[in-house]
Amino acid sequence: MLSNGIIQAAYVIAALLFIFSLRGLSNQESAKSGNIYGMIGMAIALIAAIASINGGLHWIIIAMIIGAAIGLYLAKNVEMTQMPELVALLHSFVGMAAVLVGINSFLDPHQVAPNEVTIHLVEIFVGVFIGAVTFSGSIVAFGKLNGKISSKPLSLPNKHYLNLAAIVVSVILMFTFINAQTGAGALVCLLIMTIIALVFGFHLVASIGGADMPVVISMLNSYSGWAAAAAGFMLQNDLLIVTGALVGSSGAILSYIMCKAMNRSFISVIAGGFGSDGNAASSSDEEQGEYREMQPAEVAQTLKEARSVIIVPGYGMAVAQAQGAVSNITEKLRAMGIEVRFGIHPVAGRLPGHMNVLLAEAKVPYDIVLEMDEINDDFPDTDVVWVIGANDTVNPAAEEDPNSPIAGMPVLEVWKAKTVIISKRSMNTGYAGVQNPLFFKENSYMLFGDAKDSVEKVLQNL
Ligand code: TAP
Repeated sequence: MLSNGIIQAAYVIAALLFIFSLRGLSNQESAKSGNIYGMIGMAIALIAAIASINGGLHWIIIAMIIGAAIGLYLAKNVEMTQMPELVALLHSFVGMAAVLVGINSFLDPHQVAPNEVTIHLVEIFVGVFIGAVTFSGSIVAFGKLNGKISSKPLSLPNKHYLNLAAIVVSVILMFTFINAQTGAGALVCLLIMTIIALVFGFHLVASIGGADMPVVISMLNSYSGWAAAAAGFMLQNDLLIVTGALVGSSGAILSYIMCKAMNRSFISVIAGGFGSDGNAASSSDEEQGEYREMQPAEVAQTLKEARSVIIVPGYGMAVAQAQGAVSNITEKLRAMGIEVRFGIHPVAGRLPGHMNVLLAEAKVPYDIVLEMDEINDDFPDTDVVWVIGANDTVNPAAEEDPNSPIAGMPVLEVWKAKTVIISKRSMNTGYAGVQNPLFFKENSYMLFGDAKDSVEKVLQNL
C-alpha cells in the first residue's frame, strides 16, 4: 500500500480541489467545472483512504458497490423537486455515521497518548451529540419536505426550556463520561446522551415552521459538516476534518445569507417556531374576497400589448417542469420586441438556486434572470408580471400583515405592476400554508391549470 507521505499529499490535493469546487459552484457559469473539481477531489480522497487501510478491504469494496448502486439509482430517478428531500436524507446518513464512528471509537479505542485521553473523550462525546442531532433533525426535515410530517411547527409548552434542559443534562453527562473514562458507566452516559440528542434534534426541527425550512436545510447541511469534522478528529483523519469544516462553514454562511434574505434572526429560527405559532396561519387561511380569471387567449393578448414583462417562477414551475415552455415563450416575446426579465426570490422553489438551475437548463439567458434585490424596484414600471407557480414568495401579507406567519420575509412586490397574471392549479396555499391576498387584488388575474399546459396554451395563442 502507499506510504503515509503520499497519502497525506493526496489528502492535501483533495482538500485543495474541494476548495476550488466550492469556488466554482458559487457562479452559474463555472458551476460545471466546480462539480468536476469536486468529483476528482473525491476520487483522490477515496483512493488515498482505501490505500491507507490495513486489512478488511473486501468489506469496504462490498459496501462501496452497494452504496454506489443505491446512489446511482437515486440520482437517476429523483425528480429535481425531490432534491432537497434527498439532501436531507443524505445529511441524516452523515449524522448516523458520526454516531457510529463515535461509539465505535469508544468501544475500540486506538492508542492515545495519556495527556490526550480527555480531549479524545470530548471529541467522541461532542461528535456523537452533533451526529445524533443531525440524524434525527434531518429525518424530520425529510418528512416535512415530502409532506409526510406537517409543515406546521410543533409547539410544545415551554419548548425553549425543554431544549435548554436537553443541553444542560448532556453537559452533565459529558463530565460524568470523562470522569468514568472507560467501562459500563461511561458507555451508559454516552448512550443516554445519544437518546437525548436524538429527541433534541427531532424537537428542534419539528418546532420550526414551514416558511423557515430553507434555513433549516442549510443549517442541517452545516451540522452534517461539523459531524463529519468531529468524525475526522475521532479517526485522526485530516482530510475529513478539513472537508467537514468546509461543509460546516459554507452551510453556516448559506444559513446566514438565507436568514438575511428572509429577514429572520438566525437564533430565532434555530430556537424554533419564530413568527409562526400555528394559529396565525389558520386565521389567514381563508379566501379573502373575489378573484378574476383569464383564459390563455386573453393572457396572450395582454402579453402582446405589453412593453415590459417580468416572469416570476416558483415551486409550481418546477413541479410542472414548465421551464422549457417558459424559455420558448420568452424567446417568442423577445422576438416581438417585448422586454422580458425574470425575478428570482432567494427561497423560490425548494432548494437554494432551484429556479436558476431550471432556467439555465432551459437555456434562458443569464443576463435577464435577476435576483429579488435587483428587480424589486422595477415592478411599478412594469406592464405585466406573470407569476408561474409561485405563491409565498409573492405574498403581500409578508409586508402588510404583522400577524402573518411569513411577516417580515422580503417578497417580490409583483402587485405594484400594472397587471399581474398568476398561473396555478387552484386557490390552494403555498408551502407556508397561508392564503395570498395578491390573488384578490384588482389588477390580479388567475390563469388556472398545470403551469406547463398553461404556458404552452398561451404560446399557441401568441
Ligand atoms: P410555494 O409558496 O410553495 O407555492 C407554489 C405554488 O405552486 C402553490 O401554491 C401551488 O398552487 C402551485 N403549483 C403546484 N404545482 C403546480 C403545477 N403543476 N402547476 C402550476 N402551479 C402549481 O412556492 P414559492 O413561491 O416558490 O415559495 C417557496 C416556498 O417554499 C417558501 O415558503 C419557502 O420558504 C419554502 N421552501 C423553500 C426552500 C428553498 S431553499 N428554496 C426550501 C424549503 C421550503 P396550486 O396547488 O393551486 O397549483
